[in-house]
Amino acid sequence: MKADVILGLQWGDEGKGKVVDVLTPHYDVVARFQGGPNAGHTLEFNGEKYILRSIPSGIFQGDKQNIIGNGVVLDPAVFRSEAEALARSGHDLTKRISISKKAHLILPTHCLLDAAYEAAKGADKVGTTGKGIGPTYTDKVSRNGLRVGDILHNFQAKYDKLKARHEQILRSLNFEYDLAAAEKAWFEGIEYLKKFQFIDSEHVVNQTLAAGKSVLCEGAQGTMLDIDFGSYPFVTSSNTVCAGVCTGLGIPPNRIGEVFGIFKAYCTRVGAGPFPTELHDEQGETMCSVGREYGSVTGRKRRCGWLDLVALKYAVMIDGVTSLIMMKADVLNDFKTIKVATAYKIGSKFVTDFPYEIDGDVEPVYREFEGWQCDINAIRRYDDFPQQLKDYITFIEQETGVPVKIISVGPDREATVMR
Ligand code: GDP
Ligand code: IMO
Ligand code: MG
Repeated sequence: MKADVILGLQWGDEGKGKVVDVLTPHYDVVARFQGGPNAGHTLEFNGEKYILRSIPSGIFQGDKQNIIGNGVVLDPAVFRSEAEALARSGHDLTKRISISKKAHLILPTHCLLDAAYEAAKGADKVGTTGKGIGPTYTDKVSRNGLRVGDILHNFQAKYDKLKARHEQILRSLNFEYDLAAAEKAWFEGIEYLKKFQFIDSEHVVNQTLAAGKSVLCEGAQGTMLDIDFGSYPFVTSSNTVCAGVCTGLGIPPNRIGEVFGIFKAYCTRVGAGPFPTELHDEQGETMCSVGREYGSVTGRKRRCGWLDLVALKYAVMIDGVTSLIMMKADVLNDFKTIKVATAYKIGSKFVTDFPYEIDGDVEPVYREFEGWQCDINAIRRYDDFPQQLKDYITFIEQETGVPVKIISVGPDREATVMR
Protein backbone atom coordinates (compact mmCIF):
# COMPACT_ATOMS: atom_id res chain seq x y z
CA MET A 1 0.00 0.00 0.00
CA LYS A 2 0.97 3.61 -0.44
CA ALA A 3 0.32 6.44 1.98
CA ASP A 4 -2.02 9.23 0.87
CA VAL A 5 -1.41 12.80 1.92
CA ILE A 6 -3.61 15.83 2.70
CA LEU A 7 -1.85 19.18 2.49
CA GLY A 8 -2.75 22.85 2.65
CA LEU A 9 -1.71 24.66 -0.54
CA GLN A 10 -2.06 28.26 0.70
CA TRP A 11 -1.17 29.99 3.99
CA GLY A 12 -2.92 27.50 6.27
CA ASP A 13 -6.50 27.18 7.54
CA GLU A 14 -7.71 25.79 4.22
CA GLY A 15 -9.97 23.27 5.98
CA LYS A 16 -7.60 20.31 6.39
CA GLY A 17 -9.27 19.12 9.60
CA LYS A 18 -12.68 18.85 7.97
CA VAL A 19 -11.38 16.93 4.97
CA VAL A 20 -9.27 14.52 7.04
CA ASP A 21 -12.39 13.75 9.08
CA VAL A 22 -14.45 13.23 5.91
CA LEU A 23 -11.85 10.87 4.37
CA THR A 24 -10.90 8.94 7.53
CA PRO A 25 -13.50 6.15 6.98
CA HIS A 26 -11.43 5.09 3.93
CA TYR A 27 -8.24 4.63 5.99
CA ASP A 28 -6.88 2.48 8.82
CA VAL A 29 -4.41 4.99 10.25
CA VAL A 30 -4.22 8.79 10.31
CA ALA A 31 -0.82 10.38 11.04
CA ARG A 32 0.40 13.94 11.61
CA PHE A 33 3.88 14.53 10.20
CA GLN A 34 4.90 18.11 11.11
CA GLY A 35 3.92 21.26 12.97
CA GLY A 36 2.58 21.44 16.47
CA PRO A 37 -0.06 23.31 18.44
CA ASN A 38 0.31 26.25 16.06
CA ALA A 39 -2.24 24.23 14.08
CA GLY A 40 -5.96 24.62 14.70
CA HIS A 41 -7.99 22.10 12.72
CA THR A 42 -11.75 22.52 12.95
CA LEU A 43 -14.23 19.65 12.64
CA GLU A 44 -18.02 19.97 12.73
CA PHE A 45 -20.54 17.13 12.77
CA ASN A 46 -23.82 16.26 14.52
CA GLY A 47 -24.07 19.83 15.79
CA GLU A 48 -20.72 19.53 17.61
CA LYS A 49 -17.56 21.51 16.90
CA TYR A 50 -13.99 20.57 17.82
CA ILE A 51 -10.70 22.37 17.25
CA LEU A 52 -7.69 20.03 17.23
CA ARG A 53 -4.18 21.31 17.85
CA SER A 54 -1.78 18.37 18.13
CA ILE A 55 -4.20 15.48 17.87
CA PRO A 56 -4.75 14.07 14.37
CA SER A 57 -8.19 14.72 12.84
CA GLY A 58 -8.91 11.00 12.43
CA ILE A 59 -10.09 10.42 15.98
CA PHE A 60 -13.81 10.93 15.49
CA GLN A 61 -14.49 8.24 12.90
CA GLY A 62 -14.63 4.91 14.72
CA ASP A 63 -11.64 3.11 16.13
CA LYS A 64 -9.01 4.35 13.70
CA GLN A 65 -5.41 4.52 14.93
CA ASN A 66 -3.89 8.00 15.06
CA ILE A 67 -0.17 8.66 15.14
CA ILE A 68 1.76 11.77 16.12
CA GLY A 69 4.88 11.42 13.99
CA ASN A 70 8.53 12.28 14.59
CA GLY A 71 8.27 15.50 12.57
CA VAL A 72 5.74 16.96 15.01
CA VAL A 73 6.67 19.18 17.97
CA LEU A 74 4.56 18.45 21.02
CA ASP A 75 3.66 20.62 24.00
CA PRO A 76 2.58 18.18 26.75
CA ALA A 77 0.48 20.80 28.57
CA VAL A 78 -1.45 21.74 25.42
CA PHE A 79 -1.80 18.08 24.47
CA ARG A 80 -3.17 17.25 27.90
CA SER A 81 -5.81 19.98 27.92
CA GLU A 82 -6.83 19.03 24.38
CA ALA A 83 -7.05 15.29 25.13
CA GLU A 84 -8.80 15.77 28.47
CA ALA A 85 -11.43 18.02 26.91
CA LEU A 86 -12.11 15.30 24.34
CA ALA A 87 -12.24 12.63 27.05
CA ARG A 88 -14.85 14.72 28.91
CA SER A 89 -17.03 14.70 25.80
CA GLY A 90 -16.78 10.91 25.64
CA HIS A 91 -13.76 10.34 23.41
CA ASP A 92 -11.16 8.28 25.26
CA LEU A 93 -8.01 8.58 23.23
CA THR A 94 -5.39 6.61 25.15
CA LYS A 95 -5.92 3.47 23.04
CA ARG A 96 -6.24 5.31 19.75
CA ILE A 97 -3.31 7.73 19.77
CA SER A 98 0.34 6.79 19.81
CA ILE A 99 3.27 9.17 19.81
CA SER A 100 6.65 8.89 18.12
CA LYS A 101 9.56 8.70 20.56
CA LYS A 102 11.39 10.96 18.12
CA ALA A 103 8.85 13.81 18.27
CA HIS A 104 10.45 16.87 19.88
CA LEU A 105 9.07 18.45 23.05
CA ILE A 106 8.11 22.11 23.28
CA LEU A 107 9.34 23.37 26.66
CA PRO A 108 7.74 26.31 28.49
CA THR A 109 10.96 28.23 27.83
CA HIS A 110 10.54 27.63 24.08
CA CYS A 111 7.29 29.62 24.30
CA LEU A 112 9.10 32.39 26.20
CA LEU A 113 11.84 32.44 23.57
CA ASP A 114 9.19 32.66 20.83
CA ALA A 115 7.79 35.77 22.53
CA ALA A 116 11.25 37.22 23.22
CA TYR A 117 12.44 36.79 19.62
CA GLU A 118 9.24 38.32 18.29
CA ALA A 119 9.58 41.30 20.64
CA ALA A 120 13.21 41.75 19.56
CA LYS A 121 12.18 41.84 15.90
CA GLY A 122 9.87 44.80 16.55
CA ALA A 123 8.11 45.91 13.38
CA ASP A 124 9.61 42.97 11.45
CA LYS A 125 7.95 40.36 13.63
CA VAL A 126 6.53 37.26 11.96
CA GLY A 127 3.30 37.27 13.96
CA THR A 128 3.83 33.72 15.21
CA THR A 129 1.20 31.82 17.12
CA GLY A 130 3.42 32.12 20.21
CA LYS A 131 3.41 28.36 20.77
CA GLY A 132 7.20 27.93 20.83
CA ILE A 133 7.36 26.38 17.35
CA GLY A 134 10.42 28.20 15.95
CA PRO A 135 12.63 27.79 19.04
CA THR A 136 11.74 24.08 19.34
CA TYR A 137 12.64 23.31 15.72
CA THR A 138 15.77 25.45 16.17
CA ASP A 139 16.86 23.22 19.07
CA LYS A 140 16.06 20.13 17.02
CA VAL A 141 18.28 21.25 14.15
CA SER A 142 21.06 22.50 16.43
CA ARG A 143 20.96 19.13 18.21
CA ASN A 144 19.93 20.44 21.60
CA GLY A 145 16.31 19.34 21.66
CA LEU A 146 14.45 17.00 24.00
CA ARG A 147 12.40 14.19 22.48
CA VAL A 148 9.43 12.23 23.74
CA GLY A 149 11.71 9.19 24.17
CA ASP A 150 13.82 11.23 26.60
CA ILE A 151 10.95 11.20 29.09
CA LEU A 152 11.79 7.58 29.86
CA HIS A 153 15.42 8.12 31.02
CA ASN A 154 16.99 10.68 33.31
CA PHE A 155 14.51 13.28 32.14
CA GLN A 156 14.76 15.94 34.86
CA ALA A 157 18.51 16.42 34.33
CA LYS A 158 18.06 16.77 30.57
CA TYR A 159 15.23 19.24 31.11
CA ASP A 160 17.25 21.34 33.58
CA LYS A 161 20.17 21.53 31.17
CA LEU A 162 18.08 22.79 28.27
CA LYS A 163 16.11 25.16 30.49
CA ALA A 164 19.36 26.70 31.78
CA ARG A 165 20.49 27.28 28.22
CA HIS A 166 17.20 28.99 27.39
CA GLU A 167 17.29 31.16 30.51
CA GLN A 168 20.71 32.40 29.53
CA ILE A 169 19.33 33.56 26.17
CA LEU A 170 16.25 35.12 27.81
CA ARG A 171 18.51 37.10 30.17
CA SER A 172 20.62 38.30 27.25
CA LEU A 173 17.42 39.60 25.63
CA ASN A 174 16.34 41.28 28.90
CA PHE A 175 13.10 39.34 28.69
CA GLU A 176 11.17 39.24 31.95
CA TYR A 177 9.15 36.19 32.79
CA ASP A 178 7.58 34.03 35.45
CA LEU A 179 7.87 30.36 34.64
CA ALA A 180 6.29 28.73 37.71
CA ALA A 181 2.69 28.16 36.55
CA ALA A 182 3.63 27.09 33.01
CA GLU A 183 6.30 24.73 34.31
CA LYS A 184 3.87 23.08 36.74
CA ALA A 185 1.30 22.51 33.98
CA TRP A 186 4.04 21.24 31.71
CA PHE A 187 5.25 18.55 34.12
CA GLU A 188 1.65 17.52 34.76
CA GLY A 189 1.38 17.21 30.97
CA ILE A 190 4.48 14.98 30.92
CA GLU A 191 2.87 12.65 33.48
CA TYR A 192 -0.33 12.61 31.43
CA LEU A 193 1.61 11.82 28.26
CA LYS A 194 2.85 8.58 29.87
CA LYS A 195 -0.69 7.16 29.54
CA PHE A 196 -0.07 6.98 25.81
CA GLN A 197 2.05 4.55 23.86
CA PHE A 198 5.43 5.91 22.79
CA ILE A 199 6.36 4.18 19.55
CA ASP A 200 8.99 3.93 16.84
CA SER A 201 6.48 5.38 14.42
CA GLU A 202 8.65 4.88 11.32
CA HIS A 203 8.50 1.11 11.92
CA VAL A 204 4.79 1.15 12.76
CA VAL A 205 3.85 3.17 9.68
CA ASN A 206 5.94 1.10 7.28
CA GLN A 207 4.72 -2.19 8.77
CA THR A 208 1.16 -0.92 8.47
CA LEU A 209 1.66 -0.22 4.75
CA ALA A 210 3.48 -3.54 4.21
CA ALA A 211 0.51 -5.33 5.79
CA GLY A 212 -1.77 -3.84 3.13
CA LYS A 213 -3.38 -1.29 5.43
CA SER A 214 -3.96 2.31 4.43
CA VAL A 215 -2.46 5.45 5.94
CA LEU A 216 -3.59 9.06 5.56
CA CYS A 217 -0.97 11.70 6.40
CA GLU A 218 -2.40 14.97 7.73
CA GLY A 219 -0.50 18.17 7.06
CA ALA A 220 -0.60 21.28 9.19
CA GLN A 221 -0.13 24.91 8.05
CA GLY A 222 0.23 25.25 4.27
CA THR A 223 2.75 25.17 1.43
CA MET A 224 3.19 28.95 1.42
CA LEU A 225 4.27 28.72 5.09
CA ASP A 226 6.92 26.05 4.35
CA ILE A 227 10.35 26.85 5.82
CA ASP A 228 12.08 26.33 2.44
CA PHE A 229 9.48 27.25 -0.18
CA GLY A 230 7.13 29.63 1.65
CA SER A 231 7.27 33.42 1.84
CA TYR A 232 10.43 33.39 3.99
CA PRO A 233 10.96 34.70 6.66
CA PHE A 234 7.19 34.95 7.19
CA VAL A 235 6.79 31.20 7.44
CA THR A 236 6.59 28.49 10.05
CA SER A 237 9.62 26.36 10.97
CA SER A 238 8.78 22.98 9.45
CA ASN A 239 8.50 21.45 5.99
CA THR A 240 4.80 21.66 5.33
CA VAL A 241 5.23 20.39 1.76
CA CYS A 242 4.74 16.79 0.68
CA ALA A 243 8.41 15.96 1.25
CA GLY A 244 7.71 16.61 4.96
CA VAL A 245 5.79 13.31 4.98
CA CYS A 246 9.01 11.44 4.19
CA THR A 247 11.07 13.11 6.92
CA GLY A 248 8.20 13.51 9.41
CA LEU A 249 7.02 9.90 9.34
CA GLY A 250 9.84 7.93 7.73
CA ILE A 251 7.77 7.07 4.65
CA PRO A 252 9.96 6.59 1.56
CA PRO A 253 9.11 8.82 -1.44
CA ASN A 254 8.08 5.83 -3.57
CA ARG A 255 5.49 4.95 -0.94
CA ILE A 256 3.57 8.20 -1.36
CA GLY A 257 0.27 7.63 -3.18
CA GLU A 258 -2.44 10.19 -3.72
CA VAL A 259 -1.59 13.79 -2.76
CA PHE A 260 -4.74 15.76 -1.95
CA GLY A 261 -4.08 19.51 -2.12
CA ILE A 262 -6.58 21.70 -0.29
CA PHE A 263 -7.30 25.31 -1.14
CA LYS A 264 -10.01 27.84 -0.39
CA ALA A 265 -12.05 29.27 -3.28
CA TYR A 266 -10.37 32.52 -2.17
CA CYS A 267 -7.34 33.05 0.03
CA THR A 268 -6.49 33.92 3.63
CA ARG A 269 -3.42 34.55 5.70
CA VAL A 270 -2.97 35.13 9.43
CA GLY A 271 0.12 36.86 10.82
CA ALA A 272 2.54 39.11 8.98
CA GLY A 273 4.08 38.71 5.54
CA PRO A 274 3.35 39.45 1.89
CA PHE A 275 -0.04 38.55 0.41
CA PRO A 276 -0.32 39.89 -3.16
CA THR A 277 -4.08 39.34 -3.62
CA GLU A 278 -5.10 40.72 -0.21
CA LEU A 279 -8.23 42.87 -0.21
CA HIS A 280 -8.52 45.94 1.99
CA ASP A 281 -12.08 46.70 0.99
CA GLU A 282 -15.67 45.64 1.60
CA GLN A 283 -15.22 42.44 -0.38
CA GLY A 284 -12.40 41.34 1.93
CA GLU A 285 -14.61 42.17 4.91
CA THR A 286 -17.42 40.08 3.43
CA MET A 287 -15.08 37.08 2.97
CA CYS A 288 -13.98 37.51 6.58
CA SER A 289 -17.46 37.74 8.08
CA VAL A 290 -19.23 35.14 5.89
CA GLY A 291 -16.25 32.76 6.10
CA ARG A 292 -15.85 33.36 9.85
CA GLU A 293 -12.18 34.02 9.19
CA TYR A 294 -10.78 34.28 12.68
CA GLY A 295 -7.77 32.18 13.73
CA SER A 296 -8.75 28.97 15.51
CA VAL A 297 -5.62 29.15 17.72
CA THR A 298 -5.13 32.85 18.43
CA GLY A 299 -8.52 34.32 17.48
CA ARG A 300 -6.74 36.81 15.24
CA LYS A 301 -8.64 38.16 12.25
CA ARG A 302 -7.45 36.45 9.09
CA ARG A 303 -6.48 38.65 6.15
CA CYS A 304 -8.62 37.79 3.09
CA GLY A 305 -8.17 38.12 -0.65
CA TRP A 306 -8.72 36.56 -4.08
CA LEU A 307 -7.48 33.16 -5.14
CA ASP A 308 -3.85 33.40 -6.26
CA LEU A 309 -3.12 30.94 -9.06
CA VAL A 310 0.55 31.91 -9.28
CA ALA A 311 1.01 30.67 -5.70
CA LEU A 312 -1.42 27.74 -6.13
CA LYS A 313 0.36 26.40 -9.23
CA TYR A 314 3.67 26.68 -7.38
CA ALA A 315 2.25 24.66 -4.49
CA VAL A 316 0.84 22.03 -6.87
CA MET A 317 4.28 21.71 -8.45
CA ILE A 318 6.25 21.44 -5.18
CA ASP A 319 3.78 19.02 -3.60
CA GLY A 320 3.10 16.83 -6.63
CA VAL A 321 -0.63 17.26 -6.05
CA THR A 322 -2.72 14.57 -7.75
CA SER A 323 -6.20 15.77 -6.65
CA LEU A 324 -7.46 19.19 -5.65
CA ILE A 325 -10.04 19.89 -2.96
CA MET A 326 -11.77 23.27 -3.04
CA MET A 327 -13.11 24.59 0.26
CA LYS A 328 -15.53 27.33 1.25
CA ALA A 329 -17.02 27.93 -2.19
CA ASP A 330 -20.21 28.88 -0.30
CA VAL A 331 -18.48 31.97 1.14
CA LEU A 332 -18.57 33.51 -2.36
CA ASN A 333 -22.33 32.88 -2.84
CA ASP A 334 -23.28 36.56 -2.93
CA PHE A 335 -20.37 37.87 -4.99
CA LYS A 336 -21.36 39.40 -8.31
CA THR A 337 -17.90 38.88 -9.75
CA ILE A 338 -15.06 36.68 -8.60
CA LYS A 339 -11.45 37.41 -9.40
CA VAL A 340 -8.45 35.10 -9.72
CA ALA A 341 -4.84 36.21 -10.03
CA THR A 342 -3.22 34.51 -13.03
CA ALA A 343 0.06 36.46 -13.06
CA TYR A 344 1.99 39.12 -11.14
CA LYS A 345 3.10 42.37 -12.74
CA ILE A 346 6.47 43.19 -11.21
CA GLY A 347 7.80 46.48 -12.59
CA SER A 348 7.19 46.13 -16.33
CA LYS A 349 7.37 42.30 -16.33
CA PHE A 350 4.56 39.76 -16.15
CA VAL A 351 5.49 36.81 -13.99
CA THR A 352 3.67 33.47 -13.77
CA ASP A 353 6.39 31.42 -12.03
CA PHE A 354 6.20 32.17 -8.31
CA PRO A 355 9.17 34.52 -7.74
CA TYR A 356 11.87 34.66 -5.03
CA GLU A 357 10.25 37.70 -3.41
CA ILE A 358 6.62 38.76 -3.39
CA ASP A 359 6.85 41.84 -1.22
CA GLY A 360 7.23 45.26 -2.71
CA ASP A 361 6.01 46.15 -6.18
CA VAL A 362 3.88 43.06 -6.98
CA GLU A 363 0.60 43.75 -8.71
CA PRO A 364 -1.72 40.80 -9.35
CA VAL A 365 -3.16 40.44 -12.84
CA TYR A 366 -6.76 39.28 -12.49
CA ARG A 367 -9.17 37.29 -14.58
CA GLU A 368 -12.80 37.92 -13.72
CA PHE A 369 -15.59 35.38 -13.43
CA GLU A 370 -19.30 35.86 -13.11
CA GLY A 371 -20.48 34.95 -9.60
CA TRP A 372 -23.21 32.33 -9.11
CA GLN A 373 -25.19 34.55 -6.70
CA CYS A 374 -27.22 31.76 -5.14
CA ASP A 375 -27.03 29.58 -2.06
CA ILE A 376 -25.01 26.40 -2.75
CA ASN A 377 -24.80 25.20 0.86
CA ALA A 378 -27.43 22.48 0.51
CA ILE A 379 -26.13 21.09 -2.81
CA ARG A 380 -24.63 17.58 -2.57
CA ARG A 381 -24.20 16.64 -6.27
CA TYR A 382 -21.72 18.26 -8.64
CA ASP A 383 -24.26 18.29 -11.47
CA ASP A 384 -26.53 20.50 -9.35
CA PHE A 385 -23.95 23.28 -9.03
CA PRO A 386 -24.67 26.53 -10.90
CA GLN A 387 -22.83 26.78 -14.23
CA GLN A 388 -20.79 29.78 -13.02
CA LEU A 389 -19.26 27.68 -10.23
CA LYS A 390 -18.55 24.82 -12.63
CA ASP A 391 -16.81 27.31 -14.96
CA TYR A 392 -14.70 28.59 -12.07
CA ILE A 393 -13.69 25.04 -11.15
CA THR A 394 -12.94 24.08 -14.76
CA PHE A 395 -10.66 27.11 -15.11
CA ILE A 396 -8.71 26.13 -11.99
CA GLU A 397 -8.36 22.57 -13.31
CA GLN A 398 -7.10 23.82 -16.68
CA GLU A 399 -4.59 26.19 -15.08
CA THR A 400 -3.21 23.65 -12.58
CA GLY A 401 -3.60 20.53 -14.70
CA VAL A 402 -5.12 18.72 -11.70
CA PRO A 403 -8.76 17.61 -11.21
CA VAL A 404 -10.86 19.14 -8.43
CA LYS A 405 -12.32 16.00 -6.86
CA ILE A 406 -14.01 17.37 -3.73
CA ILE A 407 -15.84 20.66 -3.20
CA SER A 408 -16.79 21.76 0.30
CA VAL A 409 -19.88 23.95 0.70
CA GLY A 410 -20.09 24.38 4.48
CA PRO A 411 -18.22 23.60 7.70
CA ASP A 412 -20.19 20.45 8.48
CA ARG A 413 -18.92 16.98 7.58
CA GLU A 414 -22.04 16.50 5.44
CA ALA A 415 -21.60 19.70 3.42
CA THR A 416 -19.25 17.99 0.98
CA VAL A 417 -19.60 17.26 -2.73
CA MET A 418 -17.57 14.33 -4.08
CA ARG A 419 -17.05 13.90 -7.83
P1 GDP B 1 -7.42 23.90 8.95
O1 GDP B 1 -6.45 24.50 9.89
O2 GDP B 1 -6.88 23.77 7.56
O3 GDP B 1 -8.01 22.61 9.44
O4 GDP B 1 -8.64 24.95 8.84
P2 GDP B 1 -9.31 25.75 10.07
O5 GDP B 1 -10.15 24.80 10.83
O6 GDP B 1 -8.32 26.53 10.82
O7 GDP B 1 -10.18 26.81 9.28
C1 GDP B 1 -11.18 26.43 8.39
C2 GDP B 1 -12.49 27.06 8.87
O8 GDP B 1 -13.44 27.00 7.84
C3 GDP B 1 -13.12 26.31 10.04
O9 GDP B 1 -13.81 27.25 10.82
C4 GDP B 1 -14.07 25.35 9.36
O10 GDP B 1 -15.16 24.98 10.19
C5 GDP B 1 -14.56 26.19 8.22
N1 GDP B 1 -14.90 25.45 7.00
C6 GDP B 1 -14.33 24.34 6.46
N2 GDP B 1 -14.88 24.05 5.27
C7 GDP B 1 -15.81 25.00 5.03
C8 GDP B 1 -16.70 25.26 3.93
O11 GDP B 1 -16.71 24.58 2.92
N3 GDP B 1 -17.50 26.36 4.05
C9 GDP B 1 -17.49 27.18 5.14
N4 GDP B 1 -18.30 28.22 5.16
N5 GDP B 1 -16.67 26.94 6.19
C10 GDP B 1 -15.82 25.89 6.12
P1 IMO C 1 -3.19 25.31 10.46
O1 IMO C 1 -2.62 23.92 10.57
C1 IMO C 1 -2.48 29.53 9.60
C2 IMO C 1 1.41 31.17 10.80
C3 IMO C 1 1.45 32.18 11.93
C4 IMO C 1 2.66 32.99 11.52
C5 IMO C 1 3.61 31.94 10.95
C6 IMO C 1 4.64 31.42 11.95
O2 IMO C 1 -4.34 25.55 11.36
O3 IMO C 1 -3.47 25.64 9.02
P2 IMO C 1 4.53 29.81 14.07
O4 IMO C 1 3.72 29.90 15.32
O5 IMO C 1 4.28 28.56 13.28
O6 IMO C 1 5.98 30.03 14.30
O7 IMO C 1 4.01 31.06 13.18
O8 IMO C 1 2.78 30.86 10.54
N1 IMO C 1 0.74 29.88 11.13
C7 IMO C 1 -0.46 29.52 10.67
N2 IMO C 1 -1.35 30.20 9.91
N3 IMO C 1 -2.74 28.27 9.98
C8 IMO C 1 -1.85 27.57 10.72
O9 IMO C 1 -2.01 26.26 11.01
C9 IMO C 1 -0.66 28.22 11.14
N4 IMO C 1 0.39 27.83 11.89
C10 IMO C 1 1.25 28.86 11.86
O10 IMO C 1 0.28 32.95 11.95
O11 IMO C 1 2.33 33.85 10.47
MG1 MG D 1 -6.28 26.15 11.17
